[in-house]
Amino acid sequence: MSFTQDELKQQVANAAINYVKSGIIGVGTGSTANYFIDALAEIKHKIDGAVASSEATSNRLKSHGIEVFDLNDINGMDIYVDGADEITEHMHMLKGGGGALTREKIVAANAKEFICICDESKYVSVLGKFPLPVEVLPMAKSYVARELTKLGGQPELRDFTTDNGNIILDVHELKIIDPIEIEIKINQIVGVVTNGLFAVRPADTLLLATDNGVKTIKKGA
Ligand code: A5P
Repeated sequence: MSFTQDELKQQVANAAINYVKSGIIGVGTGSTANYFIDALAEIKHKIDGAVASSEATSNRLKSHGIEVFDLNDINGMDIYVDGADEITEHMHMLKGGGGALTREKIVAANAKEFICICDESKYVSVLGKFPLPVEVLPMAKSYVARELTKLGGQPELRDFTTDNGNIILDVHELKIIDPIEIEIKINQIVGVVTNGLFAVRPADTLLLATDNGVKTIKKGA
């Protein structure tokens, strides 16, 4: 049986609902996360509310009557559920296609378990075919672009302003053989807020939607 990409996203979002027990849920951004939010609405009586990784996610949660908490008002959370643009068997992710990478990384850092929900088109052997998003303070745009070029990338300014008022440089042609090293290196460039590699803190659980059902892959398995 073969499914459309949207059907796969919906199936994997529904599968993630099994991980929702109670308390406050960390919620990611993007089309797969949107399916998760819609499914979460069906069981909203079980939870206290959510922390959102973007204004878009916050608005969608609120439209379903799910309370949205400020991250500073809570003491962490059990799970953070989000999609990815690419993920490897080591659970290293490339994220930020929707431009919400920084808030995603912050909310994820506060969760005991990162549950990544993806359709199988996102499962790759090496990260970097999808251009790597880097959130940058506007005044540092040219400097950061030059530094990224020195690393072998081709930065391209996205026509977009982040929820934090910053710009995004999408970096093409980067060879991301060691995602942890590149994540740290790019984050050390002055003016970078963060980059879309989630390798220092990878996912703990990957729910991967395939034509043969949703597979569960655990970090280190
Ligand atoms: C948002 O900034 C991203 O990190 C998303 O998690 C990623 O782009 C996946 O989005 P889709 O679920 O829409 O593919």
